Amino acid sequence: MRPIKTLSALVLFVTLFLIFFYSALHLETTDSLSAGLEDLLKDPSLQVHNRDETVKTQPSKQERLTFPPPVVLNVSVSDGLRQAIPQNAAYWNRLLYSALRNRAKGENPFGHDSDWSLCRQTNQDHLQTNVHDFPSYPVLFQDFLQGMNCRSPPVLFNQPNKCISAEGKEDNQTFLLFTIKSSPRNFERRQAVRETWGREGVYQHGLRVHTVFLLGSSPLEDPDLSSLLSFEARHFGDLLQWDFHESLLNLTLKMNMFLQWTVKYCPTASFVFSGDDDVFVNTPTLLSYLQSLDPSKASQLYAGHVISKASPLRDHQNKYYIPLSFYDGLYPAYAGGGGFIISGALLQPLYSASRVIPFFPIDDVYAGMCFKALGISPEANTNFQTFDIMEQHRENLCVNKKLILIHRRSPLQMKKLWKGIHNPLLTC
Ligand SMILES: *[C@@H]1O[C@H](CO)[C@@H](O)[C@H](O)[C@H]1NC(C)=O
Ligand SMILES: *[C@@H]1O[C@H](CO)[C@@H](O)[C@H](O)[C@H]1NC(C)=O
Repeated sequence: MRPIKTLSALVLFVTLFLIFFYSALHLETTDSLSAGLEDLLKDPSLQVHNRDETVKTQPSKQERLTFPPPVVLNVSVSDGLRQAIPQNAAYWNRLLYSALRNRAKGENPFGHDSDWSLCRQTNQDHLQTNVHDFPSYPVLFQDFLQGMNCRSPPVLFNQPNKCISAEGKEDNQTFLLFTIKSSPRNFERRQAVRETWGREGVYQHGLRVHTVFLLGSSPLEDPDLSSLLSFEARHFGDLLQWDFHESLLNLTLKMNMFLQWTVKYCPTASFVFSGDDDVFVNTPTLLSYLQSLDPSKASQLYAGHVISKASPLRDHQNKYYIPLSFYDGLYPAYAGGGGFIISGALLQPLYSASRVIPFFPIDDVYAGMCFKALGISPEANTNFQTFDIMEQHRENLCVNKKLILIHRRSPLQMKKLWKGIHNPLLTC
């Protein structure tokens, strides 16, 4: 009898062990599955890159390839936007109102976040059906329409520590962040900006200034600048680059990427400047102006050279041409894209508004629309001269010293002007 008892004890033991082993195995797989799903749900952009084998084997590179889009707040869209933009048969107007309707129903305004590699294809049939004269649009404009839902280009250079100070002192908060639209080949302009108005550091009253340049990628036909750019990015630590083609009609995408980046990596900046790499900014004057604002204004600022009641240009030859069947109506007031300033507190609401408003091909007009959605009107500041000043004043240092922004200046002129307005002998 004894061997039988031992045998059945052994069988019982093995069975119990097997049951325990399999249930543990099962638990582990469901655990990692749900954790994985949770991550995916939190971060739609990761879906693209999870399939990328190179990312799996080199997790440290993931930061360079993508970053999760920030949280989208449920901002309420002001009636002002509906009043400013008529509801009519033009394609963009229809898109806007359908996005607003979708959002009211609690749906994602543009359907699901498109995979970057697929977003252009999915749009083609839709466009042919919905824009009756689509084939007559200029080629670049057609191209813009095809990419209108593409909002998550891969990241080539990131600067995740830009707004974290190395000293870790208490005074390390960024007061002003310069975000400057540049393009790969504009090295000389960037260098002039670094040596003059975009110099990073601590200015009067301990105000900390940081600078980033926003870059897309060069067309394939262009000479390959990637190794130079990679050196520049490491050496200066101020390049942000995404893998989308540099072009006028991709500036709205660039703006959206800068908003995403700033919300994620520099959310405590008090003010953010957005502008071109061929403008001159009088940084000390700008800082004094920002510091002089009372707190209620400082938290709601959208200021620059304001363009009100502009209508779309209907001349095919113009680089800002907008077909009537695409957009019908005036533009809400906006600050000229050469350079404007916004409160850091508005970045997150602005980004959230941009998730409801379809991309518009002109970036500063688009910014004006997003602000309008938030119920914020641009504040005109005559010291922002995005169309330049009168010829006879251009060499006058005292006129220049009073201004905040002047468009446009060559790298050489920037250096000369910066030196001039800082000359201790200058009495104005
Ligand atoms: C400054 O940086 C340190 C470390 O990075 C952080 O702990 C601290 O909160 C920061 N201070 C301010 C005022 O942002
Ligand atoms: C914008 O960038 C995308 C991605 O590189 C490109 O395919 C598209 O042609 C660009 N759009 C315009 C209007 O240049």
